[in-house]
Amino acid sequence: MERLKIAVLISGRGSNLQALIDACAQPDFPAAIALVLSNRPDAFGLARARQAGLPTRVIDHKAFADRIAFDAELDTAITGSGARLVCLAGFMRLLTASFVERWRDRMINIHPSLLPAFPGLHTHERAIAAGCRFSGCTVHFVRSEMDAGPIIVQAAVPTHPDDDAERLAARILQAEHRIYPMAVRLIAEGRVHVELVDGAERAVVSGAAAPRATLFNPDA
Ligand code: GAR
Repeated sequence: MERLKIAVLISGRGSNLQALIDACAQPDFPAAIALVLSNRPDAFGLARARQAGLPTRVIDHKAFADRIAFDAELDTAITGSGARLVCLAGFMRLLTASFVERWRDRMINIHPSLLPAFPGLHTHERAIAAGCRFSGCTVHFVRSEMDAGPIIVQAAVPTHPDDDAERLAARILQAEHRIYPMAVRLIAEGRVHVELVDGAERAVVSGAAAPRATLFNPDA
C-alpha cells in the first residue's frame, strides 16, 4: 500500500497531531507523516513528533519580514518533505491567498465548532453564550477566508447546562481526535472530491460507507 505523505502544521499543544501520529501507527492507515512543522520553537507538539521519531522543522514567523516570505519558506519545507497533503492542526497563523491557492484541495484544517457557525477564536464561549444545544468540530478544505471551505467530516457534540468553555472544549477535543484521522483516511483513499453544487463548493465523499463516513456523533 502506498501511503499518502502528509505534513502536519502546528503552533502549540499538538493533541490533534498526536491523534494523527497514533492513526498513522496503525498498519492499515493509508497516510504517513513526512514532516511536522511549527511556527513556534516552544510548541509542545514538537516533543510529541520527536518522541515518535518524525522529522520536525521550526519556521519561526518572527524571523520573517512579511507573510509572503514566511509562507514561501513553509512551501519550500513542505514540498521538500514530499508531502502531498497539508494538515493544519492548531496552526494559528493566517496564510496568504497565494499559498492557500497553491495548496487548494490539498490542505485541510480542524476547527472546534460546527462550521459555518463560530469561525475564529473563543468558539466554545460563543456557543455557550448562544445557548447552542450542540456544538462540535469540523475538518474542512482550506480557503483564504478564516475557518472556511468545503466540509469533509463533522462531529456534533452536545452542550451540557453546566458547561463552561473548558469543559465543552475538552469534550469537543475528544471528537476532534476521532474526526481528523477519519478525514485524512477518506482523502488518502481518494474518496473526497470538491464539486460545485448550485454555485457553491462542496466536498463530496464517495464509497460504500458515505455519508456515514463523514460524521461522528458522540452521545456524551
Ligand atoms: C484544537 O482545538 C483545534 O481545533 C483548534 O486549536 C486547537 C489545537 O489543539 N484550531 C483552531 O481553533 C483553528 N481555528 P491541539 O494543538 O491540541 O491540536
